[in-house]
Amino acid sequence: MPDILDGKKIAQKLKDQLKIEIENLKIKFNRVPGLAVIQLGNVAASSVYVKAKTKAAKEVGINVFDHHLEEATNQNDLINLINQLNKNEDVNGILVQLPLPKSINEEMVLNSILPGKDADGFHPLNIGKLSISQKNDESLMIPCTPYGCLLLLRELNINLVGKNAVVIGRSNIVGKPMAQLLLKESCTVTTVHSKTINIENICKNADILIAAIGKPEFVKKEWVKEGAIIIDVGINRIKTNGDKSKLVGDVMFSDVEHRVKAISPVPGGVGPMTIACLLRNTTIAFKNVNKYLK
Ligand code: GUN
Repeated sequence: MPDILDGKKIAQKLKDQLKIEIENLKIKFNRVPGLAVIQLGNVAASSVYVKAKTKAAKEVGINVFDHHLEEATNQNDLINLINQLNKNEDVNGILVQLPLPKSINEEMVLNSILPGKDADGFHPLNIGKLSISQKNDESLMIPCTPYGCLLLLRELNINLVGKNAVVIGRSNIVGKPMAQLLLKESCTVTTVHSKTINIENICKNADILIAAIGKPEFVKKEWVKEGAIIIDVGINRIKTNGDKSKLVGDVMFSDVEHRVKAISPVPGGVGPMTIACLLRNTTIAFKNVNKYLK
C-alpha cells in the first residue's frame, strides 16, 4: 500500500511550531504578525478558503484584518485600500483572494502589494528571488501551494537529487513556482500543460508527479510509473448521484493508488499545507521587518 501524505497532520505540526514562534516573537517585540485578507464578492470556493485561512491565522496568534468588499468594488478603490495596508505597520502580510472579478486587472492589483508584505509570494520581485536565491533561504516568501507540496515531499525523507519531476500545469501561482522549487532541489524538471504533445508518455517517466492542471481525475494509471510519488494539487467538485457532489483531485486516486509509492489525497493533502504556508509567509514578513529592531 502507498504512503498517504496526510496534509492535515503535517500542516498541524507546522502550525504548532508557528504558534510557539509567534508567542516568542510577542515576548521579544511586544507585537504579533498581522495579516490583511481581502475578498471581493462571494464566490463560494473563495469564501471557504478565506474562512479557513482566517481561522488558521487566528489559531496561531496572527492578527487578522478582514476586508470583505462588494463584488462591484472598483480597481482604484481596491488599490487605495492596498496602499493604506502597505503603510499600516500592524499589517505584515496582505492577501487578495483570487480570482478577482473580470473587470479588475489582477496583475496590477497584485503588483500594488509591497513585495515585503506579499503573503502569497506572487509579486514579481518574490518570484524573481525564488528563481535566483539559495536553497533554504528562510527570508523568502514562496507561493504557498507549491511550497506546501515541497514540504509534503520532504516528509518522505527521500533524496530528491536527480529525480525526474514532472509538473502538470503552468499557472503563475502553482506550476511555474513549483518547477523552480523542484529545480532548486536538483530534480530534473519538466513542465507539461494543456498543449503538450504526448503528455502521457512524459508523465510516465516521472519519479515525482505534481498534478496542478485543474481537471478532475485527469491523470490515469497508464500515465503513472510504478513506484512514483504523486502530489495532487487539484480541488475539483464533481456531480455524483442526483444533487450530490464530491471533491476530487486532478488524479484518479483509486486508479493509481496501487502502483505508487506515495500519494497526497484530496481533500486533506495539499489544501491544509497551502494555509499553513500562508501563515509561515506572514511570520517571515514580520521577522524580515522586525529583525533590525532588537
Ligand atoms: N486562489 C486560489 N489559490 C489561491 C492562493 O493560493 N492565494 C490566493 N490569494 N488566491 C488563491
